[in-house]
Amino acid sequence: MHAARYSAFGPAHEVVELVEVPDPAAPGAGEVLLEIERSSINPADLLGFEGRYGAVPPKLPVWAGGEAVARVLQTGEGVSHLKVGDRVLALLAARGNWRPRTIAPAARLFALPDTDLDQLAMLGVNPPTAWLMLHEFVTLAPGDWVIQNAGNSAVGQSVIQFSKKLGWRTISVVRQSNQIEPLKKLGADVVLVDGPDLAARVLQATNGIRPRLGIDAVAGESTRRLAQSLADGSPVVNYGLLSGQPCAVEASDVVFRGIVLRGFWLASWFATAPLAAQHALYQQLGTMISDGSFKIEVEAVYPLARIREALAHAARPSRGGKVLIAPNA
Ligand SMILES: NC(=O)c1ccc[n+]([C@@H]2O[C@H](COP(=O)([O-])OP(=O)(O)OC[C@H]3O[C@@H](n4cnc5c(N)ncnc54)[C@H](OP(=O)(O)O)[C@@H]3O)[C@@H](O)[C@H]2O)c1
Repeated sequence: MHAARYSAFGPAHEVVELVEVPDPAAPGAGEVLLEIERSSINPADLLGFEGRYGAVPPKLPVWAGGEAVARVLQTGEGVSHLKVGDRVLALLAARGNWRPRTIAPAARLFALPDTDLDQLAMLGVNPPTAWLMLHEFVTLAPGDWVIQNAGNSAVGQSVIQFSKKLGWRTISVVRQSNQIEPLKKLGADVVLVDGPDLAARVLQATNGIRPRLGIDAVAGESTRRLAQSLADGSPVVNYGLLSGQPCAVEASDVVFRGIVLRGFWLASWFATAPLAAQHALYQQLGTMISDGSFKIEVEAVYPLARIREALAHAARPSRGGKVLIAPNA
C-alpha cells in the first residue's frame, strides 16, 4: 500500500510523495488495526508541509495526514471498549493518516455515532475548535453578538451553526461577496466583506451593539478590525495564521477599552482536558450530525493516488467547501 509523506518543506502539492509501505501486521496488546475511510485536508496540513505549523518545524521526513475517520478492522488483546466495525477518529491516536490502513493505540479512541462519513471526516478538528472558542473565553447571553473572520471556513460555518442553536448572533467577515448568501442560508445573521471601514459597518448592522467575542483565523490587519468592533473588555481570540502577518491590535483599544488578545489551540485542549470531557464533546457534536442540525460543506473527494491534485485544490482560495481524501478508494 501507499502512504503520503514529505521529506522537504515547500508547497504541499509540490513536496508530497506517495511511498510504498508494508501493510500493517495484526494489532498488538492495547492496539487496533484501522481502515482509514476519509480524511479532511486542513490548513494545518498545508502549513505543516511548509514547515510553518507549531512552535518549531518537525523533523523530516513527516508522514502526512492528521484528521481522519477510520473503521476498526481488528482489535488487539485487552481492547474491550471497541469492536470490529466501529468508526473512530484516527486523529486522536496517531498522525500519518493518509494511508489505507494503520495500527493505532486504542486508549484514546471511542466509537462514533454511525452517521454521514464525510461529515465524520471533518468532525475531529474544526467543530470542537468552534465550540470551545464560543464557550471558553466569555459567557455569552442570549442575543449577544459574536464576530469572526474566515466566516466561510469550516470553523466559521461551525461558529454560525452553533451560535444559532445557542441563541447568539453572528457577524461573519469574508473576502468575497459571493460568500454572503451561502452563509446566510446556513444561519448567519450578518455577513460582511472585510475592509478598512469594517467596525463602522458592524455598528450599523447591529444597531450600535458591539460584539462580546472576536474569533480570528486571519491575524494581521484583520485582527485590528475585529478588535476595533468589539465591546470594551472583550477578547479577540486568535486561532489561525492565514494572512501570515502578526496580530495587529491598536494600543488605544488595549489600554483605554480593555480589549485582550487571547490564543486558542485545540492541541492544548487535547493535552489537558479529561478524556471523558473530550469524548462527551465529540458525542454531542456527532449527534448534531446524525439529527441533521449540523454540517460542513464538502467541495471534492479525491482518492489517495491523486493526492497532489487534492492538495493543490485545498490550497485554492474561495473554495465552496472542504477537500477530502478517500485513502481506500
Ligand atoms: N488553533 C486551532 O486549534 C485550530 C483548529 C482548527 C482550525 N484552525 C485554523 O482555522 C482556520 C480555518 O481552518 P478551516 O479548516 O476551517 O479552513 P477551511 O475550511 O479550509 O477554509 C480556509 C479559509 O481560510 C480563508 N483564507 C485563506 N487564506 C486567507 C487569507 N490570506 N486571508 C483571509 N482568509 C484566508 C479562506 O477564505 P477564502 O474562501 O476567501 O479563500 C477560507 O475561509 C485555519 O487558519 C486553521 O489553521 C486552528
